[in-house]
Amino acid sequence: MPRVLARSLSMSSRMCQDDQGRRTTHFGFQTVDESLKEGLVGSVFSSVASSYDMMNDAMSLGIHRLWKNHFVEMLDPRGGIKCLDVAGGTGDIALRLLDHARTKHLDREMSVTVLDINPHMLIEGQKRMKETMYWNTPQIRFQLGNAEHLDRVMEVPERKNPPASTRRNPVLPPLVSEPVESESMDLYTIAFGIRNCTHIDQVIREAYRVLKPGGIFACLEFGKVSIPLLAQLYKQYSFNVIPPIGELLVGDRDSYQYLVESIERFPTQADFARMVSEAGFLLPGSAEAASMGLPRLPNQGAWEDLTFGIATIWTGTYDEATDALFQGTIKPFA
Ligand SMILES: C[S@@+](CC[C@H](N)C(=O)[O-])C[C@H]1O[C@@H](n2cnc3c(N)ncnc32)[C@H](O)[C@@H]1O
Repeated sequence: MPRVLARSLSMSSRMCQDDQGRRTTHFGFQTVDESLKEGLVGSVFSSVASSYDMMNDAMSLGIHRLWKNHFVEMLDPRGGIKCLDVAGGTGDIALRLLDHARTKHLDREMSVTVLDINPHMLIEGQKRMKETMYWNTPQIRFQLGNAEHLDRVMEVPERKNPPASTRRNPVLPPLVSEPVESESMDLYTIAFGIRNCTHIDQVIREAYRVLKPGGIFACLEFGKVSIPLLAQLYKQYSFNVIPPIGELLVGDRDSYQYLVESIERFPTQADFARMVSEAGFLLPGSAEAASMGLPRLPNQGAWEDLTFGIATIWTGTYDEATDALFQGTIKPFA
């Protein structure tokens, strides 16, 4: 984490342009030049990569596992579909998608591409996947890429493998970076990743581009807590407990300070749903969605709050036919 740089940045509220007309964005609570955000976020995840999974458990008391399990069960992937898990980091969602298809549907045809902008996170994912039956099969691949420009190739940094392979530091295949073709994916997932991106709307538009007609967009992200008293308690917990846990367990307070600030800055459930809709997706219907001028459909809301909205799932479907299926008894990936 570039602590000096991060600390020296101004603490003003979010703006689109500063006094000199430069485009700015937020990095946690700080306003930064747009061109800097990607590097700052990159530093955070490079810093936390090796402790990421352990810290997730410590910070959420293991609850993130329940949210992720529910996310995957709700999607119920199967039938040899192609999934793209964007900002997939250490492969937490990918592993669940593959396990779900295999154990619930005896499906070993489904494939998942884990795409992330950060090579350190992907390497942790590779190490983890190496311990599973999916390793070295066409079911899994790790790919370097930017959620905002899935059509572009990123430069792959040279990797120094240790001379002898050990369990902690195994020799791993080089990362790859390839463009993701339009209309090539059946399922696009992004979990706890989109709030780190500079242009959220661009990320969703790219999701729309790479999905096949009939494909599904699914985002799991921190939401806004719906009960005011609980929201206060949660805020106290986030700001007073999580950065000190980061300091205590991995000696990195700043990265975890950024994480809680970025959660606070993320749009409300309704605003994010509107962004998904504006990218072209149809949303599952709800009274809230109707009041926002979004399509109203019978069964679900435009989003689903988990643990009172601490986390939220938003889904979007590519066309009306899929949307009708998604709402009804027939699952999309039958
Ligand atoms: C909090 S982690 C989530 C990892 C994983 N999805 C999970 O749920 O455990 C956020 C991830 O987003 C990635 N990320 C941030 N900006 C990105 C971008 N523009 N494109 C792709 N990945 C990005 C980070 O490198 C990091 O691995």
